[in-house]
Amino acid sequence: MSYRIAVIPGDGIGNEVMPEGLRVLEAVGAAHGLSFTPCHYDWSCETFKATGRMMPQDGLERLRDHDAIFLGAVGFPGVPDHISLWNLLIPIRRTFDQYANVRPVRLLAGVPCPLAGKAPGDIDFWIIRENSEGEYSQMGGRFAEGTEREFVLQEAVFTRTGIDRILRYAFEFGKQLGRLHVTSATKSNGIYHSMPYWDERFAAMAAEYPDFRTDEYHIDILSARFVMSPERFDVVVGSNLFGDILSDLGPGVTGTIAVAPSANINPERIYPSMFEPVHGSAPDIAGQNIANPVGQIWSAAMMLDHLGHPEAGQAVLHAIEKVLSRTDGPKTPDLGGRASTAELGEAIAAEVSAQ
Ligand code: NAI
Ligand code: MG
Repeated sequence: MSYRIAVIPGDGIGNEVMPEGLRVLEAVGAAHGLSFTPCHYDWSCETFKATGRMMPQDGLERLRDHDAIFLGAVGFPGVPDHISLWNLLIPIRRTFDQYANVRPVRLLAGVPCPLAGKAPGDIDFWIIRENSEGEYSQMGGRFAEGTEREFVLQEAVFTRTGIDRILRYAFEFGKQLGRLHVTSATKSNGIYHSMPYWDERFAAMAAEYPDFRTDEYHIDILSARFVMSPERFDVVVGSNLFGDILSDLGPGVTGTIAVAPSANINPERIYPSMFEPVHGSAPDIAGQNIANPVGQIWSAAMMLDHLGHPEAGQAVLHAIEKVLSRTDGPKTPDLGGRASTAELGEAIAAEVSAQ
């Protein structure tokens, strides 16, 4: 089996963790009879500074024919974040209708947990983030700019189609995992129109899945519960903004956001899906070869799952856990060690090959 993968390292540490993602992909491919043809695209803030664009005019067209997109991180000081994000990452997510953003939260062996008394297995759940509409919208504008009367209006967009399809995805995801429990993130006591509507659609969807246990929490107390009792969650579904925040909070609670992966899925498989770590370009440590590559490598595992090779994906995850749980194994500084990005990546690739 051979796959064409569009590779966009992007900015900052994206350029350092991507080679490790590809290294592990090669290793797992060799072990499982899969081959990957990476097509490299240097689209980034550097490209923007040189050309005035984050990607060429036909960039999305070029990506369309790939089996998947493997991305590092986008955004760097010097280019405003709303420019870099809205001209590369968000157009990919929206044009390719990658409306389900799937993000695991799991305490891994060998990663020190900031919560007392937690062991691997205690924290293990999934965040399903709506990835195509909601609060992340370009609707609105600035009025009477530069005057005393200046105001800005930012609109959130919640469609029945958009809400229903992400809720259904969350329930189906729970069914597939065999974990019949979905928690909805809401804020219907503060946000007057969209969140009561979200709750209404959630109730309607839950009625279609009578075997499931369901909860809904306002985002404020839900955030507190992520810290106080993360054991209670199985599948958590939220809007674009809530899902974004929760999917940094969740991995933060498990010790480091650097290991967290994500999948931007087009469930209908009309377009390629995209796989990327949750973290950004980390300008504070970029260029030092100390970034933790696990988020990128775990994202490769999610890509393998999506391409129909869960046993290969499992092999990668297993190798990550095995290497991190070795007491004398290589650990990057965020994990309390002194290994370089490449040393950790090489160790995981070697473990994959040895399995
Ligand atoms: P960030 O995730 O880049 O960094 C937050 C903190 O975590 C930093 O202290 C960083 O050093 C650390 N960190 C992140 N990844 C790490 C890794 N692999 N190993 C070790 N430490 C790691 O978030 P920040 O600073 O808010 O954003 C930096 C830039 O990245 C911005 O331009 C932002 O817009 C962009 N960004 C892009 C994302 C994407 O491409 N999906 C997601 C989040 C931010
Ligand atoms: Mg984020």
